[in-house]
Amino acid sequence: MTARMPLMAANWKMHFTADEAVALVKELNKGITRFDGREVVVAPPFTALAGVASALASSPIKLAAQNCHWESQGAYTGEISPSMLRHVGCDCVIVGHSERRQYFGETDESVNRKIVALVEVDLGCIFCIGETLEERQAEKTLEVLAKQLIGGLEGLGEEQAGKLVLAYEPVWAIGTGHTASPEQAQEAHAFIRDNLVKRFDNAVANQIRILYGGSVKPDNVDELMAQPDIDGALVGGASLKADSFIRIVDFEG
Ligand code: 13P
Repeated sequence: MTARMPLMAANWKMHFTADEAVALVKELNKGITRFDGREVVVAPPFTALAGVASALASSPIKLAAQNCHWESQGAYTGEISPSMLRHVGCDCVIVGHSERRQYFGETDESVNRKIVALVEVDLGCIFCIGETLEERQAEKTLEVLAKQLIGGLEGLGEEQAGKLVLAYEPVWAIGTGHTASPEQAQEAHAFIRDNLVKRFDNAVANQIRILYGGSVKPDNVDELMAQPDIDGALVGGASLKADSFIRIVDFEG
């Protein structure tokens, strides 16, 4: 199997002023001692991107935005384009997070447009998918994941797909403290990997990293990261404090 570099990403959601975000990233920069064999990404709110980008100027920590529009410019009040994010120093953008699907009308189609736009300007993309509790209880998890994958990856070629990172975030595990068990997460990740293998060249599919997100904490990260198809974590609540995110980045495995 192709070795995939683990990626540990902090999604700060709608937390922190620009100054608070800079202070936290400075603590992370000092506190993370283990950058070998892992990539670290932080995703502050838009208003903190510029400040965090300069604080990270000579740091291996990479910068992500939490959303973008698919157009490069125009009359889209309140929106931010991929090229603007690139300009401010972002390396990648989170797309299709379930909170955006749930509260802001994000659909597979809009997610797809955003992914295509990001690939076009050569920005990385963390493409999120995941089922709700009702869908899991109705045993529709795999069906939902397959549909989100088909919709989100529409029209993407192998070369474009090879640049993506996927994130499996079961909605019922986000912010609830109910982490998916390592077996449940591995089952979903293996299904996603299988789906990618069917669709793209084997080597491409095997190089795409699949992160797990949903109540990842210092005390469950090691067992999650021990699963063969879990290539990293997308962390919400436990990334808001330096010591817990530092421990997560420092996972064993
Ligand atoms: P929590 O880690 O707070 O469950 O959030 C996960 C998440 O949504 C990351 O994008």
